[in-house]
Amino acid sequence: MIAPSRRSEHLLTLTLVSAAGVALLAAGTTWVASEQERTAERVAHSNEVLTHVSSTRTWVAEIQNAYRGFALTGSEHFLRSPGDPVEGLHAEVATLKELTADNPEQQSRLRDLDAALQPFVATGQQIVAARRSDGLEAAQAIIGGETRSSQVTRLGEVLDALDGDERRLLASRGDAHRTRLYGFWWVLALLVAAVATTLHILYGLARRGQAEQKTFLESEQRFHILARSVVDYAIFLLDREGHVVSWSAGAEKITGYSAKAILGRHFSVFYPSEDVESGKPARELKTAAAQGRVEEEGWRLRADGTRYCSNVVITALRDEAGELTGFGKVTRDLTERKVAEKRLLDEVEERRTIEGRLRELNDNLERLVSERTAELTAANVRITSARQETQALTLRLIAAQEDERRRLSRELHDGIGGALTLIRLQLASALRSDVKRAERIEECVRTLDGAVKQLRSVARNLRPAVLDDLGLADALQALLEQQAEAAGWTSEFKCDGIPSRLSTDVETMCYRICQEALSNAARHARARNIDVALQRDGGQVELVIADDGNGFDYASLQTPAAKQKHFGLVSMKERATLAGGTFDVRTVPGRGTRIRVCFPLPA
Ligand SMILES: Nc1ncnc2c1ncn2[C@@H]1O[C@H](COP(=O)(O)OP(=O)(O)O)[C@@H](O)[C@H]1O
Ligand SMILES: [Mg+2]
Repeated sequence: MIAPSRRSEHLLTLTLVSAAGVALLAAGTTWVASEQERTAERVAHSNEVLTHVSSTRTWVAEIQNAYRGFALTGSEHFLRSPGDPVEGLHAEVATLKELTADNPEQQSRLRDLDAALQPFVATGQQIVAARRSDGLEAAQAIIGGETRSSQVTRLGEVLDALDGDERRLLASRGDAHRTRLYGFWWVLALLVAAVATTLHILYGLARRGQAEQKTFLESEQRFHILARSVVDYAIFLLDREGHVVSWSAGAEKITGYSAKAILGRHFSVFYPSEDVESGKPARELKTAAAQGRVEEEGWRLRADGTRYCSNVVITALRDEAGELTGFGKVTRDLTERKVAEKRLLDEVEERRTIEGRLRELNDNLERLVSERTAELTAANVRITSARQETQALTLRLIAAQEDERRRLSRELHDGIGGALTLIRLQLASALRSDVKRAERIEECVRTLDGAVKQLRSVARNLRPAVLDDLGLADALQALLEQQAEAAGWTSEFKCDGIPSRLSTDVETMCYRICQEALSNAARHARARNIDVALQRDGGQVELVIADDGNGFDYASLQTPAAKQKHFGLVSMKERATLAGGTFDVRTVPGRGTRIRVCFPLPA
């Protein structure tokens, strides 16, 4: 459909074209009339020239007849009837000169005529003079002579040429006139055709314009009815700058503005202040103008200042020429939907949180179960290996017990048994001889003393009496001094902050560990100095045995094979562990050995 402004432009153009056509038509007609008139004048002029040429010819014939008549009759009457023909001839020639003053060609012809007339007239006068003086024959001789005849022929030629030129001019003027006239008629025909076509188009446009106008008005009406009846959407129009130019019931329902209150106001009143400050309304119009339309969801303001969530579509409106005429705006209130969506989202979020928590709990539970399982498995492994170790220890204890029994049996048999046998033999020998009895009894006493000493040593080894009598500190000091003396070490014993008595188990363990450590130092260390310290370390009692001997590689002794072979360090650790304590060896080859055991003190 052609927009009204566009259509009126077409109409104006076509009207101007038609007016120009009519004006041209009028001008053309005037021109043709004047051309006709000018051509008629020229034709009349040429005819006049031809008439005078013909008259000139007549005058020449008249003169010729006058001279002939005079020559025949001698009557002067011929020379003056009705007047002097020579004057008449000159008058005609003068008229011709006047008539052809603007034609150089004819002027030249007339000069030829003058030149031809001169001898003609002069010869005439000779004829008259010869008739008067010499009679008819002399005059007739001149008239019938060669000269006169050539003069007359020449005059005829010049007049023919004049006549011919004028006739050609007349013909050429007629041709030019016809050509112009034909051209004019063509132009006129074209003009008439153009004007007719233009009028036809104008008529068509006017008809179409009316039809389109009708359709446009109908569609406008339909649109307004639709816009008025839709109440769930705010449908309205903005001008190019964004001012509201139409309003609908839906728009009033959603925004709360009446048509009277909003028409003519800028549509940015619907936007919250932060959007207006950031230039959002203008930006949306710009985008709609550039891309055809813009759609957006966001918060808008009602007339009472409350906010509502809306879906907005702004469409750029253009005429047929693509010129932006304004914007159509359709707004939908999404607040209820948004609230429902938010509720749903909150529920989903809540469910997700609960699920997450459940998953977390589940994961924790699974982790705990797997940790506990791993712990139980490890504990099981530890129990199994402890059981195996205990079994091995029991076996080793049994073996050690057997060794100890064997040693005791050997010591009792070889030592005390032997001593008692010797004492029996000495006593029997003393009974049999009186001589040297006292000496023998003395020997018996010495042997008995040795046996008692051996017995005490065995007894001390089995359970050191000093431990029961004096307590751990003194027992350890006695043990150290005894061993140091035997091995030739220097030694120091330190005791600090220890209660006078500890539990029997702890005292026994400490004593046995110290016994084994000192025994190792004596056997393997090549030490010069041994220090033993028994002291309190927080809530526990600490026993440290340190030598300055050659040390050893403790890690290499941790293999099962080595443990089977070397029992001292293993048994020290087991004793400490059994009594609820800890055992620790620090030794570097070449830099001495430090053994530390700790037992918790009773609370
Ligand atoms: N104080 C020490 N100084 C140097 N070497 C030692 C010391 N104590 C133990 N060892 C080394 O550790 C090994 C293991 O000792 P132990 O378990 O008591 O078994 P055993 O004394 O029967 O060899 C010894 O053979 C010795 O090589
Ligand atoms: Mg040992």
